[in-house]
Amino acid sequence: MAFQTVDAHTLLQKGMEIGPGSVGERISFETLLADLSSKFVNLPADKIDGEIVQGLEKIAKTLSIDRCSVSEFTGDNKLLRVTHAFSMPGVPIMPNIVINEQMPWFKKCLYQGETVVFSTLSDLPPEAAKEKVLSLAQGVKSAVLIPLGVGGNFIGLVGFAGLAAERIWPQALVHRLKLVGEIFANALMRKESDQKLQRALVEIKRLKDRLEAENSFLRTEINEKHGHDRFIGNSPIIRKLLSCAEQVAKTDATVLIMGETGTGKELLAYEIHHLSNRRGVPMVTVNCAALPANLVESELFGHEKGAFTGAQTLRLGRFELANRSTIFLDEIGELSPELQAKLLRVLQLKQFERLGGNKTVRTDVRVVAATNRNLQESVQSGEFRMDLYFRLNVFPLVIPPLRARSEDIPELTWFFVNDFSTKMGKFVDKISDSTMTALKSYHWPGNVRELRNIIERAMIITEGNTLQIDLPTSANSISFRVKSLDDLQKNHILDTLNKTKWRIRGENGAAKILGIKPTTLESRMIKLGIRRDAMRD
Ligand SMILES: Nc1ncnc2c1ncn2[C@@H]1O[C@H](COP(=O)(O)OP(=O)(O)OP(=O)(O)O)[C@@H](O)[C@H]1O
Ligand SMILES: [Mg+2]
Repeated sequence: MAFQTVDAHTLLQKGMEIGPGSVGERISFETLLADLSSKFVNLPADKIDGEIVQGLEKIAKTLSIDRCSVSEFTGDNKLLRVTHAFSMPGVPIMPNIVINEQMPWFKKCLYQGETVVFSTLSDLPPEAAKEKVLSLAQGVKSAVLIPLGVGGNFIGLVGFAGLAAERIWPQALVHRLKLVGEIFANALMRKESDQKLQRALVEIKRLKDRLEAENSFLRTEINEKHGHDRFIGNSPIIRKLLSCAEQVAKTDATVLIMGETGTGKELLAYEIHHLSNRRGVPMVTVNCAALPANLVESELFGHEKGAFTGAQTLRLGRFELANRSTIFLDEIGELSPELQAKLLRVLQLKQFERLGGNKTVRTDVRVVAATNRNLQESVQSGEFRMDLYFRLNVFPLVIPPLRARSEDIPELTWFFVNDFSTKMGKFVDKISDSTMTALKSYHWPGNVRELRNIIERAMIITEGNTLQIDLPTSANSISFRVKSLDDLQKNHILDTLNKTKWRIRGENGAAKILGIKPTTLESRMIKLGIRRDAMRD
């Protein structure tokens, strides 16, 4: 519906009196007011701003006012910002006002809900000295300022100013202008609450999506992990490792955990997360080797609805789920070159895009990565990006193999025995010296995981309260994942050295059995980090 105003021109033609407070002007304004109030009832929120500007224009033209404007307080209440305005041709628009500096007296009046009316600048009281200066500077000769508010909540003002000449503002006119103020205030409040509602709905939708994603993720996590075990070990090397882990945990630094299979890399990652300030939000684990290549990217970064066939809903990736938490990138050495590049970008910029989307998502994650590969070698062979390696290798933690810290074996053994005792309802409180010695001298290719498995089996077969263990011989030793040729060599050399009781030279020495020169064996042992003192308790 358009405004049906009777303008001054029409009234002139009809021979009616016009001018400030004239009958013609009053009738015209009454009609405009009635139109305004019906116009704003049920006006959609997105149309409100446009209609206010049109309303100001109609008022200015009907009442021959030089400038009409709506100004709203900024969030910090420091500024009165012009949000809607109309000025007659040649009249400058009203500027934004720094409230406390430029109009402290007006502010006081407005906050008390009082309308300010002055026909000439000399009407202003002495307290309004700053307002006088402001009016003079702006060329304002007379004005009406009406507080804009609903139920005592003031959001700004609607102002009508005369710049060309001073003018009289009859009380009846001021009363009607206040009605205009009420109509605008109600509409603006409605717009504000509508916007709040829209923002709340968007947030609810975002939280709902997130909750759904987190929920399904947590359910799989809970199936995989039952609580968090303590990292057992009291050997100097483990004490040092744990103290380094404790120090780095409190920072946001990226941690790279290295060690053979079963040495406790994942356990240490949990330990770091639990010691960090991020422990309140569950750690998110990604096994880079276990994810199918075509799903890795969507797993890590999520996808938008419709990103590919089958992507029926928006899905949050692990990086987004790990916001304010830790992301554990397990088996990082297995990541494809393409994903290495993407991961590098996330680590550098802390932002990424969901698959099929162009919106940048920011995330605050702490990265802990682990590998049982020799990443340096992978860099040299070109399998792993050097720049990513340096990004990850900020704080490396190397967990030594179990055979290099056999003094931890008794404590670990008792820890697992007690754990399985509780679970199986069996009481075992004795381990013979010979059993413990055998456990300590075994070379544990599968490290702590192998020890745990062997204790579990032993607990099943044990009758009575003394643990009975069947340690595997090299022949039936549990097969384990050998990740590199070096690992293979190292284990084979160690096996041979154990058999020869660490004799290198001579007929029954390891070099002869291995078919190489003793000096070659010695240099290879140095290269592979094989030292007898490290193997002994
Ligand atoms: N120091 C330790 N104290 C107690 N339990 C341990 C310790 N180290 C490892 N474990 C246990 O051994 C098993 C293997 O540990 P974990 O999965 O952390 O090893 P990993 O280094 O990540 O192995 P992989 O390279 O094969 O993934 C788990 O059951 C873990 O709880
Ligand atoms: Mg692991």
